[in-house]
Amino acid sequence: MTISGKFSAIILAAGKGTRMKSDIPKVLHKVAGLEMIFHVINAAQSAGVSSTTIVTSPFQEDLRNNILANAQTEKLTMAIQEDQLGTGDAVKAAMPLSGAPDKVLILFGDTPLMRPEVLKQMVEDSADLTLLGFNTDTPEGYGRIICEDGKPVSIVEHKDADAATRQINLCNGGALAINAALLPDLLNGLENNNAQSEYYLPDIVGLANKQNINIGLVRCQKEDTMGVDTKSGLAKAETLMQNRLRQKHLDNGVSMIAPETIYFSHDTEIGPDSSIEPHCIFGIGVKIGAAVTIKGFSHLEGVLAETGVQIGPYARLRPGTQLGTGAKIGNFVETKKAQIKDYAKVNHLSYIGDAYIGEGANIGAGTITCNYDGYDKHFTNIGAGAFIGSNSSLIAPVNIGEGAYIGSSSSISGEVEADSLALTRAPLRKIDGWAVKFRMKKSKASEAKGD
Ligand code: UD1
Repeated sequence: MTISGKFSAIILAAGKGTRMKSDIPKVLHKVAGLEMIFHVINAAQSAGVSSTTIVTSPFQEDLRNNILANAQTEKLTMAIQEDQLGTGDAVKAAMPLSGAPDKVLILFGDTPLMRPEVLKQMVEDSADLTLLGFNTDTPEGYGRIICEDGKPVSIVEHKDADAATRQINLCNGGALAINAALLPDLLNGLENNNAQSEYYLPDIVGLANKQNINIGLVRCQKEDTMGVDTKSGLAKAETLMQNRLRQKHLDNGVSMIAPETIYFSHDTEIGPDSSIEPHCIFGIGVKIGAAVTIKGFSHLEGVLAETGVQIGPYARLRPGTQLGTGAKIGNFVETKKAQIKDYAKVNHLSYIGDAYIGEGANIGAGTITCNYDGYDKHFTNIGAGAFIGSNSSLIAPVNIGEGAYIGSSSSISGEVEADSLALTRAPLRKIDGWAVKFRMKKSKASEAKGD
């Protein structure tokens, strides 16, 4: 039968995750800057589910609170699995289903590489029960999908499989989609007489086959279903995710001569004709416009950059940095909560924090906004077209008017009027012949000491 209409998701996350050796719940470990469980929640949302139930254990209150506080959707409910008696028992904990869905997607919270396209195929499949499978030469550990006449009829877990079954290389990806009306009865039929004394979710396949329920199979790549159980698994998932993100940006018209050295966040946005030199890192919340150049070894987080901006090399742009069209941020420059308007330049060795820099202003090498007095942060405002001489300290609060000049090496606080010059350095003194006299005096003293 074809099911159209409401899909919901159940995401299992009640496992202890002890092999992560961490106080942080397993599914809150991040891949490309986003917690694994949110990768799964987002993939389900993109596939069109109308509501999601997360299954956790009674001891995971922090996890539940974290998910509820950070989820981008309000259509989330929590279910508690009292004892971890297997994946089939975990799904039972989510009964009765909320929101009266037609079809349910069952997913694992530790599979950050699950793609929405794969889930879409599963919910759109016409079968009443759709499995997810993949072929691999290294099937060790996975449940094997047993087929008769090309149709799946049951799944046997690796630990329960005999030698012949272990030769099968069609593996169970774990996720499945099922006609919601059939789920409760199938779950009630599960038994735990197996190698792990657990109620296995995949056993519903054998039960469904006995009832002549139509069983379908969607094939995916092995990495789509990769479950993360250890820190080395997490590192592997990160590598796979980074490769996907690099490919996405290349496909979108971003140039990278060494993409394998660049690290993106799940939410990084970069416009076409932008160019990223090697060894750049993108933290979360970066949106880069078109034709932007980011030179090597730059680190960006929470940055908005308009068309034609130039950044780096070795720039550190922190959250709240906004760069207008054609603005330039050069080497060894750090910015934070800084609005740097069109064509303004901060080219060398500066710290610009809690600041507004107007259009076309030039900030000389070594300029520092002294924004923090040990208790509070203070604001620096620099008007359009102002020129800040090198090695200046701007002791906030500072307000420098449009077109004003600040003499190099000045310490400026308070107000500087538009188009005026402000400087605080001591006047230049020169003493003719002083160096000659000094050297004579010193060498005589050395001779007297017998040096
Ligand atoms: C599962 C499948 C296996 C498949 C593999 C694909 C079962 C029995 N086996 O094995 O056929 O090849 O996925 O990766 O389903 N969980 C709970 N409560 C529990 C037990 C598990 O919530 O009582 C959650 C875990 O937190 C985890 C997910 O279910 O997120 C999967 O459990 P896990 O034990 O890792 O299953 P696999 O061994 O991967």
